[in-house]
Amino acid sequence: MRILFTGGSGKAGRHVVAYLLAQGHRVLNVDLVPLALDGVDNLTADITDSGQMFNALTSYAGFDELEAGTGVPAFDAVVHFAAVPRILICPDNETFRVNTIGTYNVIEAAVKLGIRKVVFASSETTYGVCFADGVIDPHVLPLEEDYDVDPMDSYGLSKVVNEKTARAFQRRSGFDIYGLRIGNVIEPHEYDRFPDFFANPAQRRRNVFCYIDARDLGQIVDLCLKTDGLGFQMFNAGNDENSVNMPNADILADFFPDVPLSRDLAPHEALFSNRKIREMLGFREQHSWRNVVQDPRRD
Ligand SMILES: NC(=O)c1ccc[n+]([C@@H]2O[C@H](COP(=O)([O-])OP(=O)(O)OC[C@H]3O[C@@H](n4cnc5c(N)ncnc54)[C@H](O)[C@@H]3O)[C@@H](O)[C@H]2O)c1
Repeated sequence: MRILFTGGSGKAGRHVVAYLLAQGHRVLNVDLVPLALDGVDNLTADITDSGQMFNALTSYAGFDELEAGTGVPAFDAVVHFAAVPRILICPDNETFRVNTIGTYNVIEAAVKLGIRKVVFASSETTYGVCFADGVIDPHVLPLEEDYDVDPMDSYGLSKVVNEKTARAFQRRSGFDIYGLRIGNVIEPHEYDRFPDFFANPAQRRRNVFCYIDARDLGQIVDLCLKTDGLGFQMFNAGNDENSVNMPNADILADFFPDVPLSRDLAPHEALFSNRKIREMLGFREQHSWRNVVQDPRRD
């Protein structure tokens, strides 16, 4: 597929772009800074400028596309990751502005140009625990996609607004627009943090103990690109297990004693459930922490 990818130079994007290139897709990365990676095309553009988004989406990806002499090829899909990725980087109003206006601009341009597949980055923070003032319980566990998302911070709120924006454009177009509530992204070199997670599990409570391997996130995006006809969907993007080596019985007793469960849980099943991507997209995790981190309890 010929894909326009926003935010491909970032922490998550660079791994997802690499995964998509390895699957044989062509990727034009639209970002404020280029991505230095063999095989990717770069265009410097600002998602908060609607004109730039319409223009980028009607652009050649590289000089080679001039050769056919048949004009600019169409994009098959848009993957939208560009954002201010948390609170406390910019003032709150700027985080909200960039994320909501940027997402509106990208999805509007894609839909009005007839691009029938959009995949966009939402966040685990929509569940309201991560950037809450104080220690907040989720309403119910496991976290699943039908949850009444209700964050109190500007970043989480921007992502909830983006989910509504996407749904509105899906309703008017009938195209496929899938959002990923991405868990805490772990790059390959970050598994050296896990022994500390195991020693001090409380630091993972605000993430409801979730993580997503950046390369497995690539698989999830690719599955979204390959799976047509689902309309508007939100998917949790997380790995199969929690990011600590405690069974759920212990995590629940220690950190969420008052939270009701909506169903039975397997002993190590992620509380940030990935059941929907496994069942609807066929996701099979390739990069569990167990592949690279020793579980001290097993010694
Ligand atoms: N990293 C995580 O743990 C995590 C978790 C949940 C959701 N997400 C979401 O995933 C996406 C990627 O996150 P990340 O961690 O890679 O963030 P990042 O900051 O590393 O990457 C974001 C990229 O977007 C680009 N960008 C920012 N503003 C832009 C603008 N106005 N125009 C064009 N490009 C712009 C940046 O230059 C950067 O390359 C974001 O939407 C983020 O909200 C990330």
